[in-house]
Amino acid sequence: MPEKNTQRGANTVARQPARFKLIDTVRKEEISLDGLQPTQGLTSIDVSPLRPTFQMNAFDPAYKSTSMGLSSKTFIDGEQGILTHGGYRIEDLTDNSNFMEVTYLLREGELPTATQLADFKQDIGENANVPPEVRDYIKSSNPKAKPMATLAAAVSTLAANTNDENPHHIIGQMSTIVANLIRRQQGKEAFLPSNPDLDFAENFLRMAFADDNGHYDANPAIVEAMDKLLILHADHEQNASTTNVRNTRSAGSTMAECIAAGVNTLSGPLHGGANQAVLEQLEMLATADTFLPLETRIERIIARAKDKDDDFRLMGFGHRVYKNRDPRAMVLKKFVDSVLAELDVDDPRLETARRVEKAAAKDEYFTSRGLYPNVDFYSGIIMSALELEPRQFTMIFAAGRVAGWEAQAEELNRDKMAIARPRQTYVGPTERPYIAIEQRGEHNGGPALEEPKELNQS
Ligand code: ACO
Repeated sequence: MPEKNTQRGANTVARQPARFKLIDTVRKEEISLDGLQPTQGLTSIDVSPLRPTFQMNAFDPAYKSTSMGLSSKTFIDGEQGILTHGGYRIEDLTDNSNFMEVTYLLREGELPTATQLADFKQDIGENANVPPEVRDYIKSSNPKAKPMATLAAAVSTLAANTNDENPHHIIGQMSTIVANLIRRQQGKEAFLPSNPDLDFAENFLRMAFADDNGHYDANPAIVEAMDKLLILHADHEQNASTTNVRNTRSAGSTMAECIAAGVNTLSGPLHGGANQAVLEQLEMLATADTFLPLETRIERIIARAKDKDDDFRLMGFGHRVYKNRDPRAMVLKKFVDSVLAELDVDDPRLETARRVEKAAAKDEYFTSRGLYPNVDFYSGIIMSALELEPRQFTMIFAAGRVAGWEAQAEELNRDKMAIARPRQTYVGPTERPYIAIEQRGEHNGGPALEEPKELNQS
């Protein structure tokens, strides 16, 4: 029975009333909860009545079993290694589509007609320029500063100085910001504005790599590779950064403020920052302890990754959702050969990466935990071939992911989602009287006003 939703175009879900029964053995109470049946994926238990009706919370640290809400953008089957946007497989999209089309698909839920695509591209292209304050910030930024924090600050500068209320203009503005930060890191002087007459990926590369007179000879193989990288990073369900963007949007913050929040989350090495870390790990394999054969060096890092007393992890391996294969990694693994051949690049790190993958695939530690290469494992080698530096990789990720962030934040608005405000399971001290510092002696605090009741006494 589909749930009624009064808002036009908003998401709805099939509801199975009272499908789940939970027995509270302490209060001797039966709790009845509805099931929500998605079009694909696991049934969700609607726990939203728990607090108002039954005065209890759901407990799920790191949201490992929590659905954040309804979404019709992206679906992942982690067991089968399937990723779809609007029902289209990522392999199909990278083979046949382009980043602008995928961005439209994420926003609107359907592939565009030729006219819709032309209008959309024009709108994004013509609104990709940024206020002078953002240009000044980029031109004065420290080219050696941490790139993702610098990017977040540039996006915040946009948030502070824009009156553009059209949320999807952020997609072009983000590419202008990222490309010009890459220019700045290369020591180029001029800030290059966006050229709406060019395709998105070519325009991005031109802004990043053209000389200070704006001259850039586009190599179609590089443009195609960049476009595919943007598609592969465009959206990925309710990951850490997207969840953060959605939560920020739920508070009523502007799109640019939300995207700055997303950039800061993406920066972490367990999330988008892993692509840079992978290349650093491959570099380390190539340069450290070279008196040992490569196989021995690989065995050593595998042993370190398995050692529970060592924080070291094999970067670019493992994923919260994929437990079999990350389809984006499979696309990149196939694509990397043709890009390197096309660009006549011989990168020995590719062979090292393949050997690391093979060694992990033979190791019970990795196979039993479902740890396989993720999107970040091969993307860095392709980005290096495009003459990007490792410190720029996560910014490229952000330039693609902004499509998903924007589409998901707008979806939340359309669904009129309430402000995100989780509950907690408090385990700190119960209420107690303040103690003056001179009376504390060697003790920091005093006893509770009232000892907490044991659960089984209530
Ligand atoms: N190397 C070694 N061991 C690992 C790795 C790894 N890369 N990843 C997970 N494990 C181990 C954990 O130690 C844990 O072992 P245990 O069960 O013995 O305790 C088990 O595998 C499960 O790992 P969790 O950390 O619980 O898995 P979680 O879903 O929380 O984390 C994550 C997923 C963060 C991606 C993790 O696999 C990781 O740190 N990978 C390396 C960083 C990376 O590549 N991040 C990019 C992810 S893709 C993206 O965000 C675009």
